[in-house]
Amino acid sequence: NEIYLRGLADEVPPFTTDTTRLEQAAEAAMAPAPFGYVAGGAGSGDTMRANREAFAHWRIVPRVLTGATTRDLSTTILGTPMPAPVLLAPVGVQSIVHPDGELATARAAAALDVPIVLSTASSYPLEDVAAVAGPRWFQLYWPNEPEVCASLLHRAKAAGYTALVVTLDTWTLAWRPRDLDTAYLPFLRATGVANAFTDPAFRAGLAKSPEDDPGMAILRWVSLFTGTDKCWDSLPFLREHWDGPILLKGIQHADDARKAADAEMDGIVVSNHGGRQVDGAVASLDALPEIVAAVGDRLEVLFDSGVRNGSDVLKALALGAKAVLLGRPYVYGLGLGGEEGVRHVIRSVLADLDLTLGLSGNTTIKDLTPDTLHRAHR
Ligand code: FNR
Repeated sequence: NEIYLRGLADEVPPFTTDTTRLEQAAEAAMAPAPFGYVAGGAGSGDTMRANREAFAHWRIVPRVLTGATTRDLSTTILGTPMPAPVLLAPVGVQSIVHPDGELATARAAAALDVPIVLSTASSYPLEDVAAVAGPRWFQLYWPNEPEVCASLLHRAKAAGYTALVVTLDTWTLAWRPRDLDTAYLPFLRATGVANAFTDPAFRAGLAKSPEDDPGMAILRWVSLFTGTDKCWDSLPFLREHWDGPILLKGIQHADDARKAADAEMDGIVVSNHGGRQVDGAVASLDALPEIVAAVGDRLEVLFDSGVRNGSDVLKALALGAKAVLLGRPYVYGLGLGGEEGVRHVIRSVLADLDLTLGLSGNTTIKDLTPDTLHRAHR
């Protein structure tokens, strides 16, 4: 309504409201290296494309005369009340994209009560982000050193992060030609990874402080997460050090989902990291129905990879996800306009979701079932 009314007064929004076109808008506005950091994927970009194409194969069936004029998007996931079944996905080193980085993102989300999932690789210390954030979860890249892991978990808990999202699909960084070609690492050296660099256990393992030798600190940081020897038997360590819900992110196979349920995890995030890890991987949305069928009644199934607008959110929910994580679109919003840009993107996606929910004859997200969708063979 607000956008239409402003339009009548000849005011156009500062950023596009077509959240599927944010990538083009961001490419025109951002410097090539930061843009490449966000837009890039593994290998040829095949999985990124597949993630998007998978949404096009599911079509929403509009309904009429349903009386769906008042709608309620709210939900509660693992004890976190949400105005809509949408969280902001963990995205590392956001200072590369905008100097205010995660602080701007957290403020924008807090204004709308939308939860953030803060990355281990945050360019601001998790305590500083917590000070301006609303509902918040913490994403763990699981370090090889137990002391560093315990320290991160302790800090996150003390700073009021309520759930833990453990990302498992990035135990080694994939072949990412775009990153290699555009060399954003100099940006990384300039911005640093303050969340890590301020961590007492991490600092204790360095010969020189990150302030004196940022390059060495970054190398050490990356090595902490590479070639990890973790397996399913390692999960009790997290339970010992985290008092709260735990979700595993990066699940694409129903057997892995079953193992997560057997290990008494509270949730999973069906995700292929936005196509940044395995080129030629199954589209995340195509992996979702089988996983929901396997474990949907045993733990909370969340979804990401390829969500660009309200219709996409609705499709993932109709296929059984309890909530979705919004990734690149809000980061493009950050690049385009800092806090205001992120807020604009979240509001656009939620307004779109609300209207599409009504136009498909539903009033709450619980009403959504696969019957809302039609599988198109193209
Ligand atoms: C990510 N993602 C990610 N995931 C995570 O668990 N920790 C992290 O630090 C990051 N960092 C990160 C940086 C950038 C630039 C991107 C684009 C993505 C993955 C993210 O949480 C999510 O899974 C994807 O963004 C979903 O794909 P789409 O919807 O953005 O294409």
